[in-house]
Amino acid sequence: MSWLAALAIIGPLAAYADSPGVAAHKSAIASAYPLASQAGQEILAQGGNAFDAAVAVSAALAVVEPSSSGLGGGGFYLLHRQSDGFETMVDAREKAPGAASRDMYLDKAGNPIPNASTDGALAAAIPGEPAAFEYLALRFGKLPLKQSLQPAIRLARNGFPLYARLQGGIRFKRDLLLRSPAAAKVFLTGNGGVPEIGAIIKQPNLAATLEAIADQGAKGFYTGRVAQDLVAGARAGGGIWTLADLAAYKVVERKPLAGEYRGARIVSAPPPSSGGVALLDALNILSGFDLHAVDSATRKHLIIEAMRRAYRDRALYLGDPDFVRMPIPLLISPDYAAGQRASIRPDRAMPSDLLPGIEPRAVGMQTTHFSVLDARGNLVAATITINLFFGCGYMAANTGVLLNDEMDDFSIKAATPNAFGLVGDEANEIAPNKRPLSSMTPSFVRTSKGLMIIGTPGGSRIISMVLLGTLDYLNGMSAADIVKDPRYHHQYLPDEVEYESGALAESEISQLKEKGQTLKEGRGRWGNMQVVTWDFASGKVEAASDPRGEGAGLVY
Ligand code: DON
Repeated sequence: MSWLAALAIIGPLAAYADSPGVAAHKSAIASAYPLASQAGQEILAQGGNAFDAAVAVSAALAVVEPSSSGLGGGGFYLLHRQSDGFETMVDAREKAPGAASRDMYLDKAGNPIPNASTDGALAAAIPGEPAAFEYLALRFGKLPLKQSLQPAIRLARNGFPLYARLQGGIRFKRDLLLRSPAAAKVFLTGNGGVPEIGAIIKQPNLAATLEAIADQGAKGFYTGRVAQDLVAGARAGGGIWTLADLAAYKVVERKPLAGEYRGARIVSAPPPSSGGVALLDALNILSGFDLHAVDSATRKHLIIEAMRRAYRDRALYLGDPDFVRMPIPLLISPDYAAGQRASIRPDRAMPSDLLPGIEPRAVGMQTTHFSVLDARGNLVAATITINLFFGCGYMAANTGVLLNDEMDDFSIKAATPNAFGLVGDEANEIAPNKRPLSSMTPSFVRTSKGLMIIGTPGGSRIISMVLLGTLDYLNGMSAADIVKDPRYHHQYLPDEVEYESGALAESEISQLKEKGQTLKEGRGRWGNMQVVTWDFASGKVEAASDPRGEGAGLVY
């Protein structure tokens, strides 16, 4: 069924949802930590809409999941406004500082300086999240920032009990955090140890920074006292930020990418994320196969081959749309996908053009995603990040703000893999004020019967996870089963399929090997997917948080 036909069917229900006094369905929030989901719920209960809730959830995550996102980072907010169907993406991706340069992470011989783009303030790009708060509140929300930021301010001031995953992150990054006195003060004990589970983590400086934003909007962060402290802090930590960089930061509204897959409409993130392009490219390739007519090993093989080709395009073509020209309409066109599909053999893996010795490092749950549906049918899919666990590990004194290490998402040298083993080329090389290419893939999937709001952290694997989640949803799986489903992944280079234990049956493993796929069982599990689904006919709403994490899906 076409998208228009689907719209015609859901039209009357949408109108019903908007009738005064009629609650056609419940609201739902799925986020990576219960206190953040509750912060969103509190704001919805005060009359806020999904966009106000998105501000509240993001700000609360900055406090209670400070390892994954925060005021010192950025992200993408994919929005659907029910009253007029308007869809947009608020691009709050960080930007390279004005003094950044193409080879800034290379030594004189042209070799990457170890960890320079991940650890310490030189790795930090200019944050976008605080600008997104103001933009969301003013343009789409109903409540003032002063109200939406209250739950986060309270959590920062009063503290919250340390939980296992955050403690694990602190232990993992302890040496890095020790190098930043302000970060050590918040996250480590007086003698530099890792606090016990249940220890109350209070962040008074972060509360004050949130209050400055609550009182003055984005200006409270990008100018004045906070900006001065941020710049002084970044420079003390070896960074190159200037007051002018902060003052110049603006979010950009970008038209989401949309495509169709077997009657479903997929809406996803455009560049500077690679997510939407790669997701639509892979789905277009798969649309020419009958995935139900083949055995499970062949089905997985075909999905892997689609991933391989979509990630290749990511590496070759994509970057910040304000800096590079990209053949996006071509990359997401069915004709292009048909060409790619022609090179896929159901019985044989096609080797990627091998580059020697590329090994992706283990990916944790840095970055965070949340999904919101309000009772009027407004939707938010937001993936926000400071990149690796605790970003660059550096907190600017007096601000409570951990700086990101998003500069590592640039290609610091052609064909040199980043922390996620991703390679890139000129399109994603560093330039002043440019946004690094992202894999974050906040998405909506809509059919005639219902819709799904989906996203996850996981670095390069985000795109393949959202692809698998989309296929699962279209196969009729529930939100709870979608977030649980074991994952497998191919990203073109390195040329191997990585899989979670349980993702491939023994027989599938041997058949995939026979087809020439190189398989590698991943250590541990990956991702922290947050899914909300809404069934139009029954009004049933489900919110599910990935069992790999300890988030909460709330429906009310
Ligand atoms: O924007 C990106 O693609 C990355 N900075 C996301 C990092 C991430 O998901 C880390 N998660 N495990």
